[in-house]
Amino acid sequence: MPPALRSCILTANVGRRTGIARLAPLPPLARAHHCPPGQQSLLDPANQSKTGEQPAYGPIGVAAALHHSTNDPAPSPTLFRHEFSLADRVALVSGGHRGLGLEMALALIEAGARAVYCVDLPKEPSDEWQKVREYAAHMTNKGGEGRLEYVSGNVTDQAAMWKVGRDIGDKEGRMDACIAAAGVLKSHTDCLEYPAAQFREVMDVNVNGVLFTAQAAGRQMARFGNGGSIVLVASMSGSVTNKDHAWVSYNTSKSAVLQMARSMACELGPKQIRVNTLSPGYIYTNLTAAYLDTQPHLLEKWASLNPVGRIGRPDELRGVITWLTSDASTFCTGSDILVSGGHHSW
Ligand SMILES: NC(=O)c1ccc[n+]([C@@H]2O[C@H](COP(=O)([O-])OP(=O)(O)OC[C@H]3O[C@@H](n4cnc5c(N)ncnc54)[C@H](O)[C@@H]3O)[C@@H](O)[C@H]2O)c1
Repeated sequence: MPPALRSCILTANVGRRTGIARLAPLPPLARAHHCPPGQQSLLDPANQSKTGEQPAYGPIGVAAALHHSTNDPAPSPTLFRHEFSLADRVALVSGGHRGLGLEMALALIEAGARAVYCVDLPKEPSDEWQKVREYAAHMTNKGGEGRLEYVSGNVTDQAAMWKVGRDIGDKEGRMDACIAAAGVLKSHTDCLEYPAAQFREVMDVNVNGVLFTAQAAGRQMARFGNGGSIVLVASMSGSVTNKDHAWVSYNTSKSAVLQMARSMACELGPKQIRVNTLSPGYIYTNLTAAYLDTQPHLLEKWASLNPVGRIGRPDELRGVITWLTSDASTFCTGSDILVSGGHHSW
């Protein structure tokens, strides 16, 4: 390797997050790819110190290519081995007993997580949940221990949720990811007649419960100082109104979740804790089955409201949740990620 390049190998500036190192500035040769042929790069090496820390497994991407010498062993892709990997990470998922929460919990296991704690109402997990746990336990090449754990709990109980988080932190010694997926949708109710108790009930689960879940995990992330990623499951109903559905409490609650994430992201950024929302469109789960199974015409109607002409499957959130909870999205915080088949595009 040329001496100029060798001088650019990782310095031992190890940071807090799961081992982070800073790259020394690239030499002119390595920076030359940013400028037209024959011109000197305008990139100031001093400013590279302001672009954040490289992960311990860095350099990656173009920087890795520029640090590579033909005398070095053949390189292998890092994208799925490192950036998208959740190897040894620990996560808390509310509403993880079924539906979108369970689907996303399994995705984290497949991405290499050590343990994913599913918090939900039933005292004991169902046969379906147990089957998913067995499946995860027996899966090979998943890159991690892959324990799916169940905790019975109500997200509206702040003290109980904080205790769930603390217990996980005490046992695992870390907390890296959180998905607040517990939520409820009520039947149609006229907005001018909406009963106070029912409105408060929806807010309690969909807003307070999301905050308490994020707090439960976020407090542990702050405790261990490794940063982390919190994903609040909102909905496209937080930014558009579902045509012909009288869901004022649900829509209001999801809008609140969007702003909660932006607000938390701003407070927690300095701690390297990222907070984003994931906003699905119509996906067939128990929540939507309450409508679709009793009013079959809605399937065609909902499908016709987006350009792909169908409603979604829970597994179609596997990629986005792995991206949001992994190092592949380290510059993404305070954002709302819409996964709706393009519902918003019309
Ligand atoms: N399915 C969709 O089309 C869709 C679209 C957009 C957003 N969402 C959101 O995705 C999330 C998951 O929904 P889903 O479709 O998987 O529904 P679901 O009904 O299958 O799952 C929701 C889970 O939350 C749990 N839960 C409810 N109240 C709780 C409480 N107080 N404490 C703990 N757990 C509680 C339920 O027991 C259930 O396991 C919800 O926040 C929902 O609003 C769903």
